[in-house]
Amino acid sequence: MKQRWMKLINEKPNYSEWVKVYTEKGKIFIIKLQRGGILQTHHGSLSHSDIIEAGYGKMVRFSSGSHAHILRPGIDDNSMKIKRLTQIVYPKDIGFILLKLDIKEGDYVLEAGLGSASMCGALSRYVGESGKVYTYEKREEFLKTSMSNLNKWNLLNRVVFHLQDVGEGFKESDYDAAFIDLPYPVPQLKYVREKLKFSGRLCVLCPTVNQCSQVIHEMNDLGFTQVEMWESIFRPFKTNPDRIRPVDMIYAHTAYLIFGQKISKETEEN
Ligand SMILES: C[S@@+](CC[C@H](N)C(=O)[O-])C[C@H]1O[C@@H](n2cnc3c(N)ncnc32)[C@H](O)[C@@H]1O
Repeated sequence: MKQRWMKLINEKPNYSEWVKVYTEKGKIFIIKLQRGGILQTHHGSLSHSDIIEAGYGKMVRFSSGSHAHILRPGIDDNSMKIKRLTQIVYPKDIGFILLKLDIKEGDYVLEAGLGSASMCGALSRYVGESGKVYTYEKREEFLKTSMSNLNKWNLLNRVVFHLQDVGEGFKESDYDAAFIDLPYPVPQLKYVREKLKFSGRLCVLCPTVNQCSQVIHEMNDLGFTQVEMWESIFRPFKTNPDRIRPVDMIYAHTAYLIFGQKISKETEEN
């Protein structure tokens, strides 16, 4: 037992692993460790071998003398630091969506609108090794960028990719949950409902308030209950303990989120 604790305390990253270098000024660098690699920043340089030598949670120094700590990146870092070709879902919304969709190990989740894979990264992380995310994206360049983003986080094998316009619906069925992030979601909702399990959960992300009324009408007509609409408003603060105050610039609005659970209609046979 004693040996196990020693191992945890002195854990070190390996070559090919992604690490977060968090500087004393609060800058974040997420890098893949490579033999002979050097991180070049405006704080000076730092060799990858020094990072490995130091280990997780430990301090390293750039050539300028300023310091940083070596940390494990999480899905919040991944979302903010991914290569983006599209608008993305932000961490403040991701956490709430995962909760309201009740995403868990073993779930089969439909995603329409892969974009840059910010949300897909989180969904695939939480469905675990035994679950799957079935994602649909119509633009090849977005799909390729997303695959490379997901590969960085070792999540590629949890995702089934369809390079396809969702205008004709979805291939699989019996999804536990569905997440829809499309510019025009309303026409697709009938296909989503058709393939969701009864009681399965849906989240539709709408960037503008105009679409929300149409989405809610459609969900009520198709057969969803507990229809809720949310906007998450987060206010980050500066954490100098002697000068705590809100940060000057915040993401005031990201998205409206509409949720519901599929129900059977009286006219429906199954
Ligand atoms: C805002 S982005 C999604 C962002 C993504 N949720 C993320 O977190 O990175 C919307 C995506 O939907 C895709 N899209 C739009 N209409 C589509 C359609 N009819 N079928 C499939 N994909 C579509 C776009 O190409 C774009 O990549």
